[in-house]
Amino acid sequence: MKHDDRGGPSRRRFLKGAAALAGGSVFAGSNIFSSINALAQDPPSGCPTPPSGGTHFVPGSDTRPIVLRKSASSLTPAELTKLQNAYTALRGLPASDKRTWVLQADMHALFCDSCNNSPFDIHGSWNFFPWHRAYLYYYERILGSLVGDLNNFRIPYWDWENIRTLPTEYRTPGSSSNSLWDGTRNSGMAGGGNLPVSDGTTSRINTLNMLTDFASFGGTSGVGGALENNPHGTIHMDVGQSSPPWHDMGNLGYAARDPLFFAHHCNIDKLWSGWNDLASGSGLPPNAYKNPTDAGFLNLRWSFYDENQQVVSISAADVLDHRTNLRYIYKYPIFRIPPLQLIWICKLICCLPDPDPGPFLEVSEKVREEVLTAVRRQANMLLVLQGVPVPPNATGVFEVLAVRGERRMQLGEIGIVPHGENRQGKQHGLQTVVLDITKAAGELLAKDKPATLRVVRRPAEQKPGIAGEILRPGQKLEYAFELKAERAEIRAEKR
Ligand code: C2O
Repeated sequence: MKHDDRGGPSRRRFLKGAAALAGGSVFAGSNIFSSINALAQDPPSGCPTPPSGGTHFVPGSDTRPIVLRKSASSLTPAELTKLQNAYTALRGLPASDKRTWVLQADMHALFCDSCNNSPFDIHGSWNFFPWHRAYLYYYERILGSLVGDLNNFRIPYWDWENIRTLPTEYRTPGSSSNSLWDGTRNSGMAGGGNLPVSDGTTSRINTLNMLTDFASFGGTSGVGGALENNPHGTIHMDVGQSSPPWHDMGNLGYAARDPLFFAHHCNIDKLWSGWNDLASGSGLPPNAYKNPTDAGFLNLRWSFYDENQQVVSISAADVLDHRTNLRYIYKYPIFRIPPLQLIWICKLICCLPDPDPGPFLEVSEKVREEVLTAVRRQANMLLVLQGVPVPPNATGVFEVLAVRGERRMQLGEIGIVPHGENRQGKQHGLQTVVLDITKAAGELLAKDKPATLRVVRRPAEQKPGIAGEILRPGQKLEYAFELKAERAEIRAEKR
């Protein structure tokens, strides 16, 4: 496949970075660490020395009880107190410690190309899911051991698909007396406002669960999966401050300083786990809802600090079975959605003559007929765009619209989270953009003046904490960038 070729250089770049890290020295002296920690107040200049090598995680060696990770909004009072105490203890660690709140947050910055000394990124590829799962695992162990409950402490998730405001305990009291609070959040959300209506919804989750291939859902060696930009990226941008430098949640160099980061990523991890659970369905193609089996994926390996400040390393293969190896589970209703097994290749073509020059979908006559037949059957239908470039200056949440004359149809969102300061102006990785075209397909494939696809900066009416909903007719929109893709497919349900 085309995008695998594109993955080559990026993958090599990652390996080069990893090799450089493996060869790097590890400072042990505490005076060195305190100076690093002081500098670490402001990545990218002060990122920590990356841990390298370390004892390999052995699957089966973690024999703690298997414990449920719960929603932040359904913790018992005792569980909540434990969570608060854990963050208080974490924030209170001496700067010489390798588990500190800042050092751990900077570990994330380090692994996302936000530090001057880390030329690699675990975002924008199939590293995304397993790396964050591993990071949360060790972070969870650190928090648990700080409250003397390594066995039973588990990180809670913010299930934004159900709880549309910031979980109350992370928000109030809104001061540093609250260890779950962060002073740099979007003011609408911090004040108790709702997420924008289209972000992190159950319907978006259902859309993602129609994708049966890991490449579209979770990425390849060189392209980020659809979930990463929406809802992962959109929620980051909704929670972070709404203008540059978007601290904390809206900037990968700082995001993990907000305790909410872990609740957000716990929910992301839950969605990955839930997607894998769909593999048990009947009548599916052999690889449906399964993780990649390529050695290049399974052998990805990263180093972390554990709860004893020891350097440990863990591979992607080690984290795939979280129940057996990492000792936690999630509980949620499995909602089976018919997977999309009809696939038509199409092309994004630019550009029509003014006034509406946006790219449109080019298909053969035969494909047009088949798609329109599926439209008449009211089959669920998605447009899957793989290898979508995003210009370096594009940061924030974007709406993808189908525009035909006066008609505008909202198809989906793209959330682009900026890296640390030193990455501003650098190229974002390639994206997978998945759009729901169930209602728009007929207009997108119209023979005469088809609808075009336009990416616009999200209008103010749809920003966090504001009740605004749909695009108003006649509303002035700011076109953001031209939608391009290395590969475009229309997928529909077989009925
Ligand atoms: Cu490593 Cu949510 O980002």
